[in-house]
Amino acid sequence: MTKNKHIPVMLAEALDALKIKSNSWYIDATFGQGGHTKEILNLGGNVIAFDYDQDNIEVGQEKFASETKKGSLILIRENFDQLEKIIKELGLPVAGILFDFGTTSEQLMSPKKGLSFEGEDQELDMRLDDRLGVKAKDLLAVMGQKQLQKIFEVFGGEKEARKIAHEIIEKRRAGEFITTVGQLVQLIKLTKAHNPKNIHPATKVFQALRIAVNDELGSIHRALPQAIKILKPGSRIITIAFHEGEDRIIKNYFKKWQVENKGQQLTKKVIKPTEKEISNNPKARSARMRIFRKNK
Ligand SMILES: C[S@@+](CC[C@H](N)C(=O)[O-])C[C@H]1O[C@@H](n2cnc3c(N)ncnc32)[C@H](O)[C@@H]1O
Repeated sequence: MTKNKHIPVMLAEALDALKIKSNSWYIDATFGQGGHTKEILNLGGNVIAFDYDQDNIEVGQEKFASETKKGSLILIRENFDQLEKIIKELGLPVAGILFDFGTTSEQLMSPKKGLSFEGEDQELDMRLDDRLGVKAKDLLAVMGQKQLQKIFEVFGGEKEARKIAHEIIEKRRAGEFITTVGQLVQLIKLTKAHNPKNIHPATKVFQALRIAVNDELGSIHRALPQAIKILKPGSRIITIAFHEGEDRIIKNYFKKWQVENKGQQLTKKVIKPTEKEISNNPKARSARMRIFRKNK
């Protein structure tokens, strides 16, 4: 298995939580490379899968050609914040929904997306849905210092956000615009003190910009209320979050739904990946799973 190949995270736990029944329909809201979808299909379930990245849909169509032909898999290139409208159009009863947020390893390493520090000359694009109009380099060209600082702090938890934002603005004043991966990495390395033993110094700023460009938290906010609506009574929503910002939104919705008597949170404490999974796939380290069951 190469380091760039996506390994599905908390697969056994997610499948166990979904309680797959043969021939029922499940939504994989974040298809990716189809790791979770594949197992749902193997267990006899049918899948409606969403991904806003056209590359993933094309790979999926090839990988799962016989399932799409048979009618057990419907692949949809769309933001999962369109869930309710699309499921209404399909008219299918939904027995469970899985959200496995974030990105795949393939997306992080893709030469055209500008998400990998290794691609020095790559354009700072960062759009996972290439129908979006604004790239990361556009944000760096137009946003004020305070706005950039806030993005780096809130979406990335970057401690040196102020300094980095200041440096970007200074460069702009001198007529230098940051448009490539290499230029941003270089600016961060020169601005912030870093220990080569720790994570790459640009990790947090890159994560923050990706979240901003793709409005990742906004999509989760819009999608969760739709998910609970379209679910069959007694069915479950499973979420796998990878950072605090995502997990907070989920936690708050689950709490609110329980107070409104819409169902029950089955994970008072989040479920974390096992040590065994983390040693096999270090990228799973920050995963946090939550489960909500809609009332019968
Ligand atoms: C962590 S990956 C999922 C991996 C997948 N479970 C697997 O095992 O292959 C998340 C995927 O969700 C997609 N995604 C993220 N946010 C999305 C959104 N708002 N709408 C549609 N797809 C989204 C990303 O493009 C990415 O492919």
